[in-house]
Amino acid sequence: MSIMSEAYMNMFPMEAKKKESSGKHTAVLDIPEFKKAWNIYRETSLDIMKRHEYMAQCLDFTDKDTEAIKESKEIIAANLKTILDHIYYEKLINDPWLSRWFRDETGKIAKKYVDVRRAKQQKFLLKILECKWDEEFWNHVRWVGAVHVPIFGLEDLYIPVRLNIALWGYIHQYLFNLFAEELKNDPDKLRRITTAWTKLFWIIIDMYHIEYFPSWM
Ligand code: HEM
Repeated sequence: MSIMSEAYMNMFPMEAKKKESSGKHTAVLDIPEFKKAWNIYRETSLDIMKRHEYMAQCLDFTDKDTEAIKESKEIIAANLKTILDHIYYEKLINDPWLSRWFRDETGKIAKKYVDVRRAKQQKFLLKILECKWDEEFWNHVRWVGAVHVPIFGLEDLYIPVRLNIALWGYIHQYLFNLFAEELKNDPDKLRRITTAWTKLFWIIIDMYHIEYFPSWM
């Protein structure tokens, strides 16, 4: 047994048990419903617009949601500096693990580098706010995710998925608290906007991780 399979068996002892076949073999792809699902799986893996189409349909992300995101632009624009200052100058540089990527060789926070990164994040947020859900946009989201693993250039850069999720989740709730504060007198608008952003966040998080290999999850 290899070290990896031994570790795996420790994690999933039920896998060590002998498997009994239920007897009858079914050629899954002969069943139309399963074949359809398989085709969706293939198409959504190969074609980023099909992926968007499927995710949008499943999450019920419609033009109404796009309108709601546009409605939220004003609030985000008015608070953009505060949002980015908080994320970069408070959250990221103070978190024991996240801050590792913002330090120089001696372990000190590299302030200038934090500014550069903040500017890139701002650009990314503004691109999302253009609300153009086309192939160029989704490939951009996919590319931003891909630069966090050693696919394009930076060989020693690898951000585990859990850190991306931790940060996306943090930004998500931070934005929602901001919306709740700004829209406390307009609960309908608040619901529209938070619903739309929730859907969009989940679609983006999927696209962002396309280039992640399972072992980097
Ligand atoms: C909410 C999730 C995240 C988003 C939206 C995001 C966004 C971005 C963007 C837009 C870039 C710049 C791409 C470019 O234009 O060159 C970038 C690069 C980078 N990100 Fe993230 N990121 C996220 C999570 C993380 C996390 C959790 C870390 C680690 C703490 C991280 C570390 C980096 C690093 C080291 C770079 C490379 C910057 C360089 O070129 O030196 N990112 N990210």
